[in-house]
Amino acid sequence: MRVEPEPILEPRVDGLLSDVLAEPERLSAMVEALGSPLNVVVPERMAANAEHYRDVYRRHRLSGRTYFAHKANRSSAFIRCLVAGQCGVDVASLGELRHVLAAGFPGDRIMATGPKDAEFLWLAAQVGAVVNADSSEELEELAGIAARFGTAPVRVMIRLSGFDSAGVPILSRPSRFGVHARELDATLDLLDKYRDTLRLLGVSYHLDTTGVEEKALALEGCLLAMHRALTRGFAPTAIDIGGGFGVNYLADREQWERYTTELGSAVLGRRPAMTWQNHGYGLHAEAGTVRGTLGVYPAYREIVGARYLDELLSWKSSSLGRSLATLLLENLYDLYIEPGRGLTDQCGLTLARVVEVRTTHAGDTLVRVAANSRDISAESHAVLMDPVLLPERPGVATGVYLTGNLCLEDDFITRRRVTLPRTPVPGDLLAFVNTAGYFMDFAADHALMQPTARTAAVFRDAGGWSWCLDEQYWPGKGSRS
Ligand SMILES: Cc1ncc(COP(=O)(O)O)c(C=O)c1O
Repeated sequence: MRVEPEPILEPRVDGLLSDVLAEPERLSAMVEALGSPLNVVVPERMAANAEHYRDVYRRHRLSGRTYFAHKANRSSAFIRCLVAGQCGVDVASLGELRHVLAAGFPGDRIMATGPKDAEFLWLAAQVGAVVNADSSEELEELAGIAARFGTAPVRVMIRLSGFDSAGVPILSRPSRFGVHARELDATLDLLDKYRDTLRLLGVSYHLDTTGVEEKALALEGCLLAMHRALTRGFAPTAIDIGGGFGVNYLADREQWERYTTELGSAVLGRRPAMTWQNHGYGLHAEAGTVRGTLGVYPAYREIVGARYLDELLSWKSSSLGRSLATLLLENLYDLYIEPGRGLTDQCGLTLARVVEVRTTHAGDTLVRVAANSRDISAESHAVLMDPVLLPERPGVATGVYLTGNLCLEDDFITRRRVTLPRTPVPGDLLAFVNTAGYFMDFAADHALMQPTARTAAVFRDAGGWSWCLDEQYWPGKGSRS
């Protein structure tokens, strides 16, 4: 069998993150002091990303607000940076709500989403947050809480899911969240009953899909739902279209195309395995053909983030005859968005120290790092991208498996064999770029009593960049001199 050179998946890296990576000795000293793994976040970049979304609003002459989906990252620096700007924040737990209140977020810039228990609803109502309700049961419970504690009427949104398409059928996948669009009337009946305690601000959706068409259908469904609410005597003013605008993780389209093609060949046994035990990421061989669906995030994508929002807003509704942006504008509706991943693009990296390099009986090179697959959970979110090996030194490219510090067979940082520019040695660092959205601390825990990462915030200053502990960051850092 002819051995092809190993395909690589270089991460896209720019801005302050590139400057940070250019100083490996400093990073090494940080890891020495704060331990491995170490999260590094770039709060200023999040503010810049938010501006790109604002530009799209301006282009379409729309009003409204961006709510950062806090679940994407636990960093306090991010939240403090956002408090100082115009964004709101979407919190999906009591813990997140407390966190943003402690960082100084005013209640009226907070949106409560996701599954909610009574304590979460109570605090949200107390501070005047918008409650993005998931069900009629939740609205009933909230109305009860508001009446019992005499809070001001709570602004609520009805999260909708399951939208019907007129004409050509478009898949609207079922969701465990939200009220089916066909149950809208029953939900409005409920809100009618609780007019003293709940005030309908509008309707919403969040879809876990990259498909613009499916989202356009949902937004059309929301426009129709708003119309229905108006005819029922409510005065809703906003539509919240959730998050899911996406990120482009990779530097090079060809690398991505080549990787996915060769993965298929490896599954068929036409080239050496590219993954641990020839794991196929959803693909398998059946009678000489590749079957199944590649179950990974499209790591190389051109239309992401603010561009994706632009594309959605420019989408012409076939049933309503105009672009979605025009329809929002004509009705003077506010547009709310809740990007998580999209706002954290290029906002962080995770550093892990190489602890051991060994060769197995079968000839595989295993590189063990002082971190595990919960600290860097890109693999479980199915995002395939290579780490950066630091420091840069001359050497021969080599394919290695990256293993973690848990005593578990499946604790691989990634099941892919990763091609590094040289064989690492203990003490080197691996930098996993763009971990800030979900991969950095979403799943991190103390399994086996291993430490979880500390987080350092980096910011520009007169000398290039400096850092402080995440909890010590405030938006004026670096600009005092
Ligand atoms: C209700 C809601 N809003 C926003 C988001 C953020 O999505 P993303 O990070 O893909 O932008 C999520 C993610 O799960 C969500 O559940």
